[in-house]
Amino acid sequence: RLLTIGVCLGALGFATAPAFANDGYDLWLAPASSPATDIRVVGQSQTLDRAAGELRRDLAAAPLPVVLGKSDDPAIAALRLPTRALGEEGYLVRAAMLDGRKTLIVTGKTDRAVLYGAFALIRAQKTGADLAAIDLQSAPKIGLRVLNHWDNLDGSVERGYAGQSLWDWWTLPDFKDPRYTDYARANAALGINGIVLNNVNAKPESLTAPYIAKAKALAEVFRPWGIKVYLSARFSAPIEVGHLKSADPLDPDVQAWWKAKSDEIYREIPDFGGFLVKANSEGQPGPRDYHRSHAEGANMLAAAVAPHNGIVMWRAFVYAETDPEDRAKQAYTEFKPLDGKFADNVLVQVKNGAIDFQPREPFHPLFGAMPKTPMMLELQITKEYLGFATHLAYLGTMFEEVLEADTRAKGKGSTVAKVVDGSLYRHKLSGIAGVANVGRDRDWSGSTFNQANWYAFGRLAWDPTLSADRIAREWAQQTFGNDPRVVDTAVKMMLASREAVVDYTGPLGLAHLMGTGHHYGPGPWISDLARPEWNPVYYHKADRNGIGFDRTKTGSNAVAQYAPAVAKMLADPRTTPESELLWFHHLPWDWKMKSGRTLWQEMVARYDRGVSTVAQMQAEWQEVKSLVDAERWQKTASYLQIQHNEAKWWRDASLAYWMSVNGLPLPAGAAAPE
Ligand code: GCU
Repeated sequence: RLLTIGVCLGALGFATAPAFANDGYDLWLAPASSPATDIRVVGQSQTLDRAAGELRRDLAAAPLPVVLGKSDDPAIAALRLPTRALGEEGYLVRAAMLDGRKTLIVTGKTDRAVLYGAFALIRAQKTGADLAAIDLQSAPKIGLRVLNHWDNLDGSVERGYAGQSLWDWWTLPDFKDPRYTDYARANAALGINGIVLNNVNAKPESLTAPYIAKAKALAEVFRPWGIKVYLSARFSAPIEVGHLKSADPLDPDVQAWWKAKSDEIYREIPDFGGFLVKANSEGQPGPRDYHRSHAEGANMLAAAVAPHNGIVMWRAFVYAETDPEDRAKQAYTEFKPLDGKFADNVLVQVKNGAIDFQPREPFHPLFGAMPKTPMMLELQITKEYLGFATHLAYLGTMFEEVLEADTRAKGKGSTVAKVVDGSLYRHKLSGIAGVANVGRDRDWSGSTFNQANWYAFGRLAWDPTLSADRIAREWAQQTFGNDPRVVDTAVKMMLASREAVVDYTGPLGLAHLMGTGHHYGPGPWISDLARPEWNPVYYHKADRNGIGFDRTKTGSNAVAQYAPAVAKMLADPRTTPESELLWFHHLPWDWKMKSGRTLWQEMVARYDRGVSTVAQMQAEWQEVKSLVDAERWQKTASYLQIQHNEAKWWRDASLAYWMSVNGLPLPAGAAAPE
């Protein structure tokens, strides 16, 4: 009836917002109003059944019947489709004559490849493809496409802004919340094939039998969707859980403990993926406690899971309290000499930048620097430093920026994407990880637009060469429908959004200027934390004469960690991209920028630009009010208002602080502080 009223009002020329509430639960999986019915499976498996179920739910009435099956099923093999190059996970969707009828075939070598093909078909239809002419073929470029949950066993989520953990440890393993299935569907639709269940700041209990049983229950839900579970392992677990005296990786008792523990896990979860480890970082235990290297630590765990084809993802996010070296240099200093020393089933997992998920960081110097080691890229989907759940910041552009960055490690075109997908140095293993932004909020991610960041991660994990623009468009079409007025507006807002956050929180390569501990809001003045490298003043080094961190030869010489061509470019402020200027250089406030402005004038202009971009997003969102359902529209509008207020807070507090340091007035034409 609501629909009828809406249609009537629409016919009378009233602009009507779609009448239905939409709480965002469906993500990119909105069911079709009249779904296709002629869907048939050849072969039999839980995964194929799930694939067909998705089509029967989400695919709108199709002009052709659809048949799903593995490429070696006799019915499909007889069609002689070009499936050879698809690998284990690639799919082919194309029309062919089957039993005398033109039929849409969804196929691939494995069940999960067929599942990915089904989701690709749905996506194609929702983004406007003509199914009668469809011809899709795609294989993932990266092998391990993994979400890292920073979920704690008490139900809280570290740096999570979308409610409590999805995992209800209390009712697992007996109760499998249907939401776990919906979560798996949403991930499988993107091609995500691994989930690390618990926080990298891991508790030893996660390796005890009761928690292994809970992980097993989740693994059972995820398995038909092509998703493996992994666990974060606490390095000192042999002491805490195993009651050994030591966790020294060269101690045979410790090695035997990990082996037995791995065997126990694999008995319960035969396709268990392996371990993720944060060691000797921010107070976590690790091999350095025993004067062993990170390679020795990683290899001990690798040996324990190797007989089961498991892997170890060993994080390179290390920096030590006692180390006077520039924090941005420490991971490289520690890991680069270990290249070639890791076991075959170890990947080193490296954050996109050398500090910590700032709104902008130059790419991490380890990318390209360890040719013998498969290197995983770790991205943060949750917006720890970009305004938590409220600020609209589409991270597709940020992910794209790092993937496209040219390490020059093997000449021009040695992009981070090619390091990560394994093609630059021909690695068998390749992987990418995203720190998840999901929780128990109805919309999963705390806001509608935050869903796009999860989506963008998944799509780039499948194909790191996709453009952020295209992904934004795809997402908007599946989220809001195909009205170009809404889609164009959403995409425009998304593409401008991350740069706006950079502008109002720390333009021109400034970073780590946020409030202490919680990491929300400005705090560039903070200087009293016990660990020097946690203080914002450590990063900006502003004084009366200038601002910025000198990472050239006259400073920490972090630039020397990059390949010579990049190092040369970054050694000179005139050839350094202005977006990274103060990351690498300490410059006088009157330094001449490309715009002709002084550095100070440029900084102020960027802060102002950040605020006005948010105002622009608000105005754009206002224009589509009648075209988006009220629930999602209103929440987004309210959040944009919060963002606008807080962008001004960031700008005004930051500028007031800089002015207290440099003694300069606000340049003429700058917006008045509020
Ligand atoms: C950041 C974050 C921590 C997290 C750490 C990590 O420092 O603030 O909460 O534990 O990254 O990635 O290990």
